[in-house]
Formats: sequence, C-alpha cells, structure tokens
Amino acid sequence: MLRAKITGTGSYVPETVLTNADLERMVDTTDEWIMERTGIRERRIAAANQGTSDLAAEAARRALDAAGLAASEIDLILVATVTPDMLFPSTACLVQGKIGATRAAAYDLAAACSGFLYGLSVANSHIVSGQYKNILVIGAETLSRVVNWKDRGTCILFGDGAGAVVLQATKGNSGIVTTLLKSDPSLWQLLCLPSVGSRIHASPLDVEASMHTIQMKGNETFKAAVKALDEIVDETLGAAGVKAAEVDLLIPHQANIRIIQATAKRLKMPMDKVYLILEKYGNTSAASVPMALDEAVRTGAVTPGKTILMEAFGGGLTWASALVKW
Ligand SMILES: CC(C)(COP(=O)(O)OP(=O)(O)OC[C@H]1O[C@@H](n2cnc3c(N)ncnc32)[C@H](O)[C@@H]1OP(=O)(O)O)[C@@H](O)C(=O)NCCC(=O)NCCS
Repeated sequence: MLRAKITGTGSYVPETVLTNADLERMVDTTDEWIMERTGIRERRIAAANQGTSDLAAEAARRALDAAGLAASEIDLILVATVTPDMLFPSTACLVQGKIGATRAAAYDLAAACSGFLYGLSVANSHIVSGQYKNILVIGAETLSRVVNWKDRGTCILFGDGAGAVVLQATKGNSGIVTTLLKSDPSLWQLLCLPSVGSRIHASPLDVEASMHTIQMKGNETFKAAVKALDEIVDETLGAAGVKAAEVDLLIPHQANIRIIQATAKRLKMPMDKVYLILEKYGNTSAASVPMALDEAVRTGAVTPGKTILMEAFGGGLTWASALVKW
C-alpha cells in the first residue's frame, strides 16, 4: 500500500521583528495584556519588496534541501494562503517559477488558518491514489499587509512567515496515518476579509470602513475554536485507533496560548508535549503549523517512530487535523 511520508521540512521568516513594545506605541495596549491573553511576544513583518511567494519559495528551497530532492523532481506544488501575491496567477505558480520546479503542476488552496492541513490532506490523496510521487505543500502568509494596524483586537495577533514540507510516496510504515477536514459556514462572519473580492471591491468607502483588512470577533472565535478543536482531536484519534497517551507531540495551530492549553487539557497532555512557536511569531495562519513542524524537526523534538498530531482552526469556519507516524 502506498503511503505519503514527509521527507523534508523548511521554513522562512522575514528579518523585521515587531515586538509588543513596538505595538504599545501604535495602539492602546500593553506587553503584559498581550502576553497574558495570547502568549505572543513578537511577530515578523515582511519587507516592502517581499510577497508571499518570496517567503514560500525560501521555505520550499529549505524543505527540498532537507529531503535531498531537486525542484525538477516535484510533481505538484500546493500553496495554502489567504494572502496570495495577487488573485491570479496563483502564488503556487509564482513559487514554481522561483524554485525552478519545471515539471510541476501548481495551485493555491484557501482554507484560512487550516489551509496547510487541508493541503496536506489533498496531497496525501494525490499520493495514495498513485497520481503523484513528490509534492511540495506550503503554508505562507504576509498577514501584515491585511491587518488593520489601528485595531488593537486583531493587530497584536498576526505575523508573516512560511513553512513547507516535501511529501513523497513510500511503501514503508511511516507517514500520514489519517487526516480530517471540517467546515461550517454558519459562523463565517466571525473571521473574514471582505475585500478585495467579487462582492466588495475596495472602493474608497470600503477602504474607509477597513473592509480590506481582517475583521474578527475575537471572543466568539475563541470559543468556536476551542469547541471545534476539542471535537476534532477526539475524532482523529478515534478514527486512527490511537490513544491520546500514545501521541508523542502535539503541533497545534499557533493562534492563542489559551486555545492551545485547552486542547492539551482535553488530551490530558502536559504542555511539554506541545510544540510552541507562538511567542516568537504570533499567528501566521496557514504558515503556522508547517513552521512549527519544521522547528520541531530541526530541534530534534520530532524523530523517527514518533506519533505527531497536528491541528488547526480558522476562518470559514474551517478546522482540520493530521496524525502522522514519523
Ligand atoms: C483577540 C483576543 C486575544 C481577545 O481576548 P479576550 O480575552 O477575548 O478579550 P475581549 O475581546 O473579550 O476583550 C476584553 C477587553 O480587552 C480589550 N482589548 C482588546 N484587545 C486589547 C489589547 N490589544 N490590549 C488591551 N486591551 C484589549 C477589549 O477592548 C475589552 O475591553 P472592555 O472590557 O473594556 O470592552 C481573544 O479573543 C482571541 O485570541 N480570540 C481568538 C482569536 C484567534 O485566534 N483568531 C484567529 C483564529 S485562527
């Protein structure tokens, strides 16, 4: 039986650091409030000449290096993002050009913060069906471009970055065990970016109303996230026949330390089995899980034989999980 195995990971963050102290000078907030309510201390901001595809391409190059694979061997590039360079061409096509993946097909996938895990699930299906052998799945965002820097309820949360994995066909026992994808449109208004799209076209009035920036009802989003993640981790472990105690490492979407603690509590998992990059990078949406995974691999927290549970939640609403035997 064919399985999909992650054979290389990579990530990239821009150099510029925006600290909570910097935010104190921009909006009515404090480092203490942000740390206590979110667990975030700083985040990265893309340079003026960097688009999402630049961040994604660098993460992809690092993942290819780690896998020992040439870009020309990639069959498919999947980029999960809500901050594409432009509406079209896809960011995946731009990445294809930047890394020289001459034979690949390429497309973007929009599932907000769950996008990377949606992408991993789709890529898994492409591999298990025998259609493709080598796939790059990338989560990349430049959220700093779509944040309302006057809204203290959202601007403290988000940051820029990219993470990538190389997924390859294998006949071995390690690889993706199961993935679950969920969505519920009834609460879409909790978290959205209304413009630019076909409905709201960023007229001067729309811009004045900040329709081109992230709109979020923080408290309700928080509650929806905890509930959805509680349910999906239970269902994922049930589907795989794996007990929570058998999970070696939880790699959660890095949105808010209190949401992550709630999921860990649900799994009766001590926080030292939860991989965190939130404090350094904030919420990087689709990039957050692959960035955390890459750091976990490079620091030795993920080693062969370990069972890894990844989960994410975001606008849509969407939520998703993946259980991986490394
Ligand atoms: C945004 C979030 C940190 C706000 O924390 P909260 O505990 O829910 O706070 P509330 O929104 O209830 O606001 C409480 C108070 O803090 C204030 N506040 C909001 N942001 C603040 C900030 N940056 N600094 C100081 N005070 C702030 C509010 O204005 C409110 O004041 P009031 O009581 O005088 O009206 C939290 O709701 C959250 O993280 N939600 C999930 C967001 C998320 O993860 N989104 C992405 C999903 S992928």
